[in-house]
Amino acid sequence: MRSVTVKSPATLSNLCCGFDILGMALEAPYDLITISESAQSGIRIRHLDAYGLPEDPLLNISGVALQSFINALGSQQGFDVVVEKKIKPGSGIGSSAASAAGVVVAANELMGRPFNNNQLLSFAMDGEVLASGSRHADNLAPCIYGGLVLIRDTPSLDIIPLSLPPLYVTIVHPQIEIKTSYAREILPKEIPLKLAVNQWANVAGLVAGFQQGDYELIGRSLEDVIVEPVRSKLIPGFDEVKQKSLAAGALGGGISGSGPSLFMLSKEKNLAEKVAVEMSGVFERLNIEYKTYVTTVAAHGVEVLHT
Ligand code: HSE
Repeated sequence: MRSVTVKSPATLSNLCCGFDILGMALEAPYDLITISESAQSGIRIRHLDAYGLPEDPLLNISGVALQSFINALGSQQGFDVVVEKKIKPGSGIGSSAASAAGVVVAANELMGRPFNNNQLLSFAMDGEVLASGSRHADNLAPCIYGGLVLIRDTPSLDIIPLSLPPLYVTIVHPQIEIKTSYAREILPKEIPLKLAVNQWANVAGLVAGFQQGDYELIGRSLEDVIVEPVRSKLIPGFDEVKQKSLAAGALGGGISGSGPSLFMLSKEKNLAEKVAVEMSGVFERLNIEYKTYVTTVAAHGVEVLHT
């Protein structure tokens, strides 16, 4: 039986002011997903990791996304899926997106690429809904397309790949749990015009900064006046991490996705490493277990390793 293995990257979504509309793919960490054709119809999922995720395809993000792919294919083809998650579920760096996007890109490769990226994105979004209760694409789109992307319109999946200068990303993942569904529930349903103006000015500044390679502009546009003030209260040490990271030379940063991970962007690798030390120090003092990553932006999305 033929099989395909893919590497599915972690992603950074929101990028502060770009709630639900900006995201980037990261070089590390990533999940490994292998899909094989089966003589038996239906989906079987096996996890090689120790996260205790459900293997029932109806309750598993990869299973739901793959079922959506199969429905669109209109076929009785069965699949066996083996998932090795290296992106911890609930970390805020696109773990569920990596599961959903990875499996549909792998299935597409196995079946001779019947679908384009936006069709795959739509199948993957069906899986993401299971994780967060919402059809947002700011982790899934960069996971499939790679690099930095703008989701100009979510319902029509108007995805705009953006260029950006070399950047290093530092992430700290404090081992506390924040459910995306809860982190969305607590957000204001309406916002004052003054805050909206501030936020969309920052989004425009950030996109212009990325396109022009203007690090200073990127830094001062990494500001979120709407979501961060609410969600940051859920993350112990948030203000201290931010203040120490900026003092260590980071351009800026904030909450990664819906948290609890925090991210900082830096112009140089040695600065990103210094930021990781500062971030670690905060959680050491708070006596909260944590994991840090220093990585870069991945130009590619889900990558086929072998068939
Ligand atoms: N944009 C989403 C949010 C990302 O912040 O809720 C989390 O999946």
